[in-house]
Amino acid sequence: MIPLHNTEERYGSVAMFFHWVIMLLFLILVVLGLTMTNMEDSAEKWQLYSLHKSFGLTLALLVVLRIFWRFTNPVPLLPETLKAYEKFLAHAVHIGLYGIMLIMPISGVIDSYAGGYKMDFFGLGLLPKAEKRSEWGESVALMVHVYGSYLFYGLFFLHIAGVIKHHFILKDNTLRRMLPVSLKKS
Ligand code: HEM
Ligand code: HEM
Repeated sequence: MIPLHNTEERYGSVAMFFHWVIMLLFLILVVLGLTMTNMEDSAEKWQLYSLHKSFGLTLALLVVLRIFWRFTNPVPLLPETLKAYEKFLAHAVHIGLYGIMLIMPISGVIDSYAGGYKMDFFGLGLLPKAEKRSEWGESVALMVHVYGSYLFYGLFFLHIAGVIKHHFILKDNTLRRMLPVSLKKS
């Protein structure tokens, strides 16, 4: 049975839950974001916008809980065999990913609000529409949101490259300790 809390050797079930659910939400949000912005104006397009905002706000809530959990739990140690620059890179990518997890929903909410649009959350209107549009606010937030998504693709690539290197080349427990499986190699 995997404990709820992290230990120095592995992630606990709560951290794993946050990691994999948030990964799935990122995937859904990127697919929705790219699809909806490339569609012709139609009812379906705006339904996808509404779904994108609903999933994005769900993610924002989970990220706040995840960061709280991160700071109240031990962080599994990186293998001692890693060189200093590899440890630095792993930490930098993780910090970057946490940053993106915050920047994307915040810029998305500002973009939508400043544009004078409804902030839907699965059919519940969460925030009232802005009285006045702010073109300046909308364009800055949109720029952050779009460039943020590019930064995410880069960090995601580095993250996955790291996981592949650890699992298939170094053959250590890095991937296994984020999965609900035994840490012993079979
Ligand atoms: C981690 C969370 C999020 C991710 C990964 C994400 C990703 C994306 C992507 C990839 C796009 C397409 C950008 C492009 O044109 O290339 C997009 C567009 C957009 N997102 Fe998000 N998004 C997130 C959260 C949110 C939230 C919480 C909101 C609002 C509540 C939001 C509102 C929007 C809007 C309004 C657009 C369309 C901008 C336009 O009209 O061009 N997003 N998002
Ligand atoms: C197929 C996709 C993914 C795989 C296979 C994967 C795998 C992993 C693994 C194995 C770890 C543990 C690293 C260690 O033990 O030091 C990890 C940590 C982490 N992953 Fe992912 N990941 C994926 C997607 C993502 C995505 C989309 C995000 C962010 C949006 C993300 C953010 C993080 C963060 C921030 C950590 C560090 C957790 C902490 O120590 O607090 N991952 N990931």
